[in-house]
Amino acid sequence: MALTGKRVLLIISGGIAAYKSLDLIRRLRERGASVRPVMTDGAQKFITPLAVGALAADHVFTELFSREDEQDVGHIRLARDCDIVVIAPATASLLAKMAHGLADDLASTILLATDRPILTAPAMNPKMWDNAATRRNIATLQTDGVSFVGPAKGEMAERGEAGTGRMAEVLDIVAAIELHFDEKPKPLAGRSAIVTSGPTHEPIDPVRYIANRSSGKQGHAIAAALRDLGAKVTLVSGPVTIPDPHGVNTIHVERAEEMMQAVMAALPADIAIMVAAVADWRVASASDQKIKKQPGQSIPTLALAENPDILSTVGHHKLRPKIVIGFAAETQDIEKNGRAKLERKGADLIVANDVSPATGVMGGARNQVKLIGHDGVEAWPDLDKDEVAARLAALVAERLKP
Ligand code: C5P
Repeated sequence: MALTGKRVLLIISGGIAAYKSLDLIRRLRERGASVRPVMTDGAQKFITPLAVGALAADHVFTELFSREDEQDVGHIRLARDCDIVVIAPATASLLAKMAHGLADDLASTILLATDRPILTAPAMNPKMWDNAATRRNIATLQTDGVSFVGPAKGEMAERGEAGTGRMAEVLDIVAAIELHFDEKPKPLAGRSAIVTSGPTHEPIDPVRYIANRSSGKQGHAIAAALRDLGAKVTLVSGPVTIPDPHGVNTIHVERAEEMMQAVMAALPADIAIMVAAVADWRVASASDQKIKKQPGQSIPTLALAENPDILSTVGHHKLRPKIVIGFAAETQDIEKNGRAKLERKGADLIVANDVSPATGVMGGARNQVKLIGHDGVEAWPDLDKDEVAARLAALVAERLKP
């Protein structure tokens, strides 16, 4: 059984989805795991410790200052004597506490004290999920290495409410736990990768710059996907507002020339995927003082100089990685331009996408790409950027197979 002997510390917090955690306990035990339950006060308003304890066949821990429990097990041991901490459902409030390191009840204290991996299954009203504070907390937790399953889209328990916020289905939570313990050798273990991501900012003067609409979502997702397959990843990122992927060596740069230097410093590597929207031109001589607007003076003209082509330099380098992949953001003649780029830049593959404003690709969450290789063109359906990343990482792993 996939989870034989695994010890799951299950924290149940207070949401209507708590009733599903009863089924979760049953499914985990069926698969050979032991489940030690912890319930918040809120959780006990929805389901009883009696039901939870009966299904888990264990004591249910609810109090931080329980003399009996502390003598018996203690919150520090609870936090450590397990292989994984799972929070299902995870309320917005518990996630907020965890993001800020608050410890004012047993569940939040365990979360602060544990050195075990944490998997959360959030469940809340879509408005709460979309709230800026929750967005910030989730980003913080992701950076801290906390894993998430869900939430899913759909109808809420509240009548007439729909959106993202439903707790992931129980079997999806089980699958996420199983995936965590999956000990199959990873196909990119021992491989190194360089990924560029985001835009570059080319200074005009100390306060102004030339930029583009790249968000870094696709590049960061690719770095994370390569990491998931076991690669050691260096991500060279231009200025973005999204968090650094956990477990990836992220180097922050601003200008194309800095990006080039960072990429060169990261060679040799087995894999290079250049996703950044590098500015083709920089201002030939950026002013070191703010350019002043003065009455009667003529409008300044900016002389541009060409930036180094990082992809092409990597593609023709004596330390050329075994696989070099470029992106081609196009608004017309996608295939033709992609093929020309493949040759010119010395790449093995060009991932071409249509970035016309109507597609919403730049800055958006989805992407529809064509893979242009030396042996033909493959069109992928419209996918989430994470899914494009996962497929691309799998393709790289396939090509690098001994
Ligand atoms: O020529 P174009 O900018 O369309 O090529 C896009 C591909 O080349 C992308 O993979 C991008 O990251 C890379 N590139 C680069 N350095 C540049 C320009 C583009 O690495 N100066």
